[in-house]
Amino acid sequence: MQDREATTRLLATDAARQPSPPPVVRARGLTKAFGERLAVRGIDLDVPQGGCFGFLGPNGAGKTTTLRMILGQSPPTAGRLEVFGLPVSTHIAEIRARIGVVPQADNADPDFTVAENLRMYARYFRLPAAVVKPRIRELLEFMELAERADEPIKSLSGGMKRRLTIARALINDPELIILDEPTTGLDPQVRRMIWNRLRQLGRAGKTLLLTTHYLDEAERLCHDLVVMDDGCIVAQGAPAELIAAHVEPQVVEIPGDMARIRGLLDGIAGLRIEQVGETGYCYTSELAPVLQKLGEVPGLRYLHRPTTLEDVFLRITGHGLRGG
Ligand SMILES: Nc1ncnc2c1ncn2[C@@H]1O[C@H](COP(=O)(O)OP(=O)(O)O)[C@@H](O)[C@H]1O
Ligand SMILES: [Mg+2]
Repeated sequence: MQDREATTRLLATDAARQPSPPPVVRARGLTKAFGERLAVRGIDLDVPQGGCFGFLGPNGAGKTTTLRMILGQSPPTAGRLEVFGLPVSTHIAEIRARIGVVPQADNADPDFTVAENLRMYARYFRLPAAVVKPRIRELLEFMELAERADEPIKSLSGGMKRRLTIARALINDPELIILDEPTTGLDPQVRRMIWNRLRQLGRAGKTLLLTTHYLDEAERLCHDLVVMDDGCIVAQGAPAELIAAHVEPQVVEIPGDMARIRGLLDGIAGLRIEQVGETGYCYTSELAPVLQKLGEVPGLRYLHRPTTLEDVFLRITGHGLRGG
């Protein structure tokens, strides 16, 4: 009996001693200057293992620059940066072998076919032929490109090129997949297909790190995200946490000028009204009194909905996604 207790205690101590998995990416004071211009201003970051981590922000926020530093493509001006617990400055080859990359622009070699592009990439990682052949077949099927295997790149649509870039990023069976705006410019059907595949990769235990300026994409995919603006991290958390922390649960969008909207809703407590372009956004925890007042105005058009990351973004950065 005593022995068993001792064993139990021992196991409990061991379990307590188990370190939680180290972050896949850890940055402290990470900074990048281009001449006088600070593209990334001393950010701190921990990307946990597993799940999908998002970098959100308008054009020019510093998202791509941060990814390029993580990939060892752009040396930091200052700060510490580790991937898989290894300093990027000294271990980039080892790190790079465990990462898959989907760059912002598709860059498959136009002189080769779909399958040849994958083979070339496999050679870059020095993967053995016995591994490569079945893996290419598998990846082409996974990204629904099997029928295009022997076609030249120039015959592919934009969506197919993007899917090929994603297949290529998976050739080395990476632990961490970095995607820079994976669905920018794609039609809704392809976006959905890519989201499904990314979710599948997440379920298979991969860590996904993606940038996007689509807030709906971030809300659908990301377990955790940071909002970047002008080189800084201005907010961090799970989408639902960010919404709860920064905005009221409901919003009513009313077209028209502010004076009129304020006049309409005069006397209702706890409203926050913002104007964006031609639309007033009335944020509230209590929808009923607002809807009642608006219902009294014949023919008035308005839309009520739960708040989203879009509203968080407006609140934090004071503007929409510039040049989205
Ligand atoms: N190679 C470069 N040389 C000079 N400035 C750059 C370079 N790359 C990016 N920048 C600048 O750094 C800022 C951040 O850019 P970037 O990281 O590409 O933003 P994002 O990916 O969020 O749109 C921008 O102002 C951009 O003009
Ligand atoms: Mg970018």
